[in-house]
Amino acid sequence: MNYFKMQLPALDCNEKFARSALAAFCVEAAPTLEEIGDVKTAVSEAVTNVVVHAYDKENPGEIFLEAYLDANEIKIVIKDNGVGIADVEKALEPFYSTKSDDERSGMGFTVMQTFMDKVSVVSKEGEGTTVELVKRFGDKQ
Ligand SMILES: Nc1ncnc2c1ncn2[C@@H]1O[C@H](COP(=O)(O)OP(=O)(O)O)[C@@H](O)[C@H]1O
Ligand SMILES: [Mg+2]
Repeated sequence: MNYFKMQLPALDCNEKFARSALAAFCVEAAPTLEEIGDVKTAVSEAVTNVVVHAYDKENPGEIFLEAYLDANEIKIVIKDNGVGIADVEKALEPFYSTKSDDERSGMGFTVMQTFMDKVSVVSKEGEGTTVELVKRFGDKQ
């Protein structure tokens, strides 16, 4: 078992850093390029959600990122202390978004579910959100 934990401000630029850090951490488990791409895509969506939805722009809070690698399985935890999600079930639906600008398609959670083996979301309004992503490498073929 290997793990890392980090804490970083919820800034746009840290989305790239977070997904690169996760990709580098996965290498030990010898994932395929496709699997690394899947992890990066899912982490990118989860971290972007913290940056975009959890905190107000003037007063960005923090992203808490943890990853646990056990044999061929990685578990990634992305947590914030932001506004939280009132209705998680609804938020998980494809095309559901509380932001209407062009960039937000409401497909972030759907993308995470597509590229990871397990996605769980726990959230409380006014307290924050925790997203857990699990992927097993070498499952196919
Ligand atoms: N970390 C978060 N904090 C608060 N709200 C969130 C968070 N992540 C997701 N949400 C809510 O869930 C909705 C759906 O997220 P998502 O599927 O990524 O779509 P999008 O980001 O395009 O709106 C968001 O519109 C937002 O209301
Ligand atoms: Mg999103």
